Amino acid sequence: MHINSVSIIVGRRGSGKTDYGKESIMKLKLPKALIVDTYDATGQPWRTMETYLHPEWKNIKTGVIEMDQLKRWRKGIYRAFSSNPKELIEKIDRSKVKNVCIVFEDATKYIYGKLSESVKNLVYDSKQRNLNIIFYYHSLAAVPLDLVRIADFLVLHKTGDNIKNVKGRYPIDDLEEVFEFLKASDNQYERVLIPLN
Ligand SMILES: Nc1ncnc2c1ncn2[C@@H]1O[C@H](COP(=O)(O)OP(=O)(O)OP(=O)(O)O)[C@@H](O)[C@H]1O
Ligand SMILES: [Mg+2]
Repeated sequence: MHINSVSIIVGRRGSGKTDYGKESIMKLKLPKALIVDTYDATGQPWRTMETYLHPEWKNIKTGVIEMDQLKRWRKGIYRAFSSNPKELIEKIDRSKVKNVCIVFEDATKYIYGKLSESVKNLVYDSKQRNLNIIFYYHSLAAVPLDLVRIADFLVLHKTGDNIKNVKGRYPIDDLEEVFEFLKASDNQYERVLIPLN
């Protein structure tokens, strides 16, 4: 993951997206990370930073942060939840938070269609505010067109997409070849990093 970049991570359930996100956060060395989700599911993998490659990161626990604490927040990895994630994103944007990796878990559920002003602000200000932003989707078909246009990278895992139907949404000449490579791979966690801009 590159500094100040905006990435879209796409993959079916269990394809290794969350592990990859955790590894990226740990490598980035930004002082802060914020994981946005709709609710704190039992067995929520973001409660610790444990990954397959780094079981010892189990000892790195993530706390829950409330939006009114964002301004005073200096360091650490936190999770934020809301049944109204659009409002949560507005609050994150308005807090003018800096030097943070923001992860939108399961964005399929709440960032679709036309992008809200707050999502656009965060993406466009990512360089000035030293943000790394990661959006998670389960399929290529679910990623908003405007997000494809403004993101820097697509990290593609195996998906169940009908590639012929979705390839036109992406400015990637060899997307179908990449998709077929992933599909044919024996490694269920296989992924390919593709620059978008
Ligand atoms: N490269 C890998 N090698 C072996 N195991 C892995 C690898 N990557 C991830 N895993 C393990 O596979 C399981 C599923 O991975 P992960 O939670 O990252 O998937 P996901 O794509 O985020 O799934 P979901 O869509 O359900 O959130 C986890 O237990 C994880 O530790
Ligand atoms: Mg996951």
